[in-house]
This record gives sequence, C-alpha cells and structure tokens, in this order.
Amino acid sequence: MLIKRSERWQESENSVTSETIYLNRRRLLAGAAVAGAAALAPSVFAQRDRVLKPLAARSTAFDPGESPTPEAAITQYNNYYEFGTGKDDPAENAWRLKPAPWSVKVDGLVDKPATYALEDLVDFNALEDRIYRLRCVEAWSMIVPWVGIPLASVLKKIEPQSGAKYVAFETLADRKQMPGLRWPVLDWPYTEGLRLDEAMNDLAFLAVGLYGKELPNQNGAPLRLVVPWKYGFKSIKSIVRISLTDTQPATSWNISAPREYGFYSNVNPMVNHPRWSQRRERRIGEFGRRETAMFNGYGDLVADMYAGMDLSKNY
Ligand code: MTE
Repeated sequence: MLIKRSERWQESENSVTSETIYLNRRRLLAGAAVAGAAALAPSVFAQRDRVLKPLAARSTAFDPGESPTPEAAITQYNNYYEFGTGKDDPAENAWRLKPAPWSVKVDGLVDKPATYALEDLVDFNALEDRIYRLRCVEAWSMIVPWVGIPLASVLKKIEPQSGAKYVAFETLADRKQMPGLRWPVLDWPYTEGLRLDEAMNDLAFLAVGLYGKELPNQNGAPLRLVVPWKYGFKSIKSIVRISLTDTQPATSWNISAPREYGFYSNVNPMVNHPRWSQRRERRIGEFGRRETAMFNGYGDLVADMYAGMDLSKNY
C-alpha cells in the first residue's frame, strides 16, 4: 500500500500555480542572471550547459496550424515526477539524467526481442517534424513542435506476434539520477500502455527532439511517447522498456487513482475529472480559456477505434 502525499497537480486546477506567475518568476531569475546577481542554483547552470544537437527532419502533414508555444515554456513548465512534483523541478533537476548511451529492452510477444541501442531502434535518418497539441489532464495545453518517428515504425521493426494486443512502456527508475524516486508519489517505475491498434495509429509518435533539437532531459530525453488525442500523462518519458502483451497493462496513474485516471484517457470534454471540469483549457501563454475538443481535435483520425465503446465508462 502506497503512502500518498497530496499532489499539486491533483489539487483543483484553480489552485495550482498559474504558469503566468511561474514564467514571470523564471523571467525574473533570468534577469537576475543578466544583472550579474550570483544567487542562481548551480543546477540551473548545469542544465543550461548541456548542448542540444540539431536534428535533421522532414516535415509532415501533422500541423494544427496554430503557433507553437514558446520553447522556454515547453522546456521549463513540466510534469516529470521522477525529478519532483513542482512545475519547475524537472528543468532544475533533470541535468542528473544521462540520456546517452541509452538502450531500450524489448520483450513479451514479439519476434525480435532484444535490448536495443537507441540508434538501432530509431532510424535517425527518417525523422519527421510533427506539430501536435498537448492537452494536460490539469486543463492546460501547449502546441509542441516535436521531432521523432511514428511508433508504428518501431513496432514493425520488433515484429509483434499474432497474440499481442497491447503495448506497455516503462520509464527509467534510477535513484542516482532521479531524486523524485525517493517519494512514493507513484508506483515506480512510471508505466503506461496503449492498445495495439492505438499504438499503430499514424498519430502515435516517439519523440527524440523538439524545436529541431534533441529532447531536453526534462521533456523526456532521449525517447518519449506522444499520443496527442490522449491526456498528457499517457506520453511517457525516458522510455527504457517496450513490452507487447495479451492483457491490458497496469499503468502508474491508474494504479494511483483508478477513479480519476482510466486506461484510455482520451481527451473528452464530456467526462469531468472527479474534482474539476474538463470542458475548457488554458493554452500556456494565453489569457482566458478555450473549449476543449473531443479527442483533442484529432477525432477524424482516431474516433473509429472507439466505435461502439461507451466513452463515459471507458475513460
Ligand atoms: N513521464 C514520466 N516518466 N513521468 C512523469 O511524471 N508526466 C506526464 C507525462 N509523462 C510524466 C511523464 C504528464 S502528467 C504530462 S502532462 C506530460 O508528461 C508532460 O510533458 P512535458 O513536461 O514535456 O510537457
């Protein structure tokens, strides 16, 4: 039985620190650095020192036609509980993560099980740009220009067997690199899962970069899932294991609060979180709120997969 602290992002969405206040604080910090004030924590400098390599990618049709959220917000306002539960904790602490060399264990119902070096699993000559909406369950959203490859291309490489029905993912869990693991806020390692047809959908993506550069650690370096029609917590970071299974895999958030976070977690303005509405969202960097769209606006590409399912029960 886990002992739980009350989590900041499980509080009412009105009570979590507003990103405007948060980003203003970051701006103040940056200003202080320019002015020569010496009080910044050393970890902030360490994070800045990681040089992110440019990635070559070809564009694709996946672009919502909305301006991307500024890079500073995408990389400094994060959820990555292995580095702390505050929005600024990941940017401050994730310099401890070593994203290279990196390997991913592939097991379960596949014909090509192995521990793959990242470069053998992801074809870095076939990277694509994809601009996706990211809708967090906390009712904020961003537009993120990712770089990566379709999840389907990796699945084809590892050859799922005919009995495989689900794909399970696992994040690294290393206390030396991840100070947040000291707290039992979730069932570590962080786990997530998709039905195989969801994983094979054109939209399901494995990101290795954003804004044309390698992923910053706090965004899930070196490999993270992006499932834009689902709430952001399905987009598991720093993946070290991919398993094909015939039964629905357990997922960290569902274990932690099954009434609040279901396995599917499709963005659905008609199904409220038990403690707040999901009808509207605040786009980071904007004032006011906008209506949340069913499947986060990707319904024409994904709704068929849920035909006949009661989405108020299968949330
Ligand atoms: N993956 C891991 N391993 N740990 C986490 O805490 N947080 C999730 C998801 N992936 C999380 C994770 C949540 S709640 C969200 S909203 C997104 O990452 C946030 O991604 P971002 O920080 O790149 O915006």
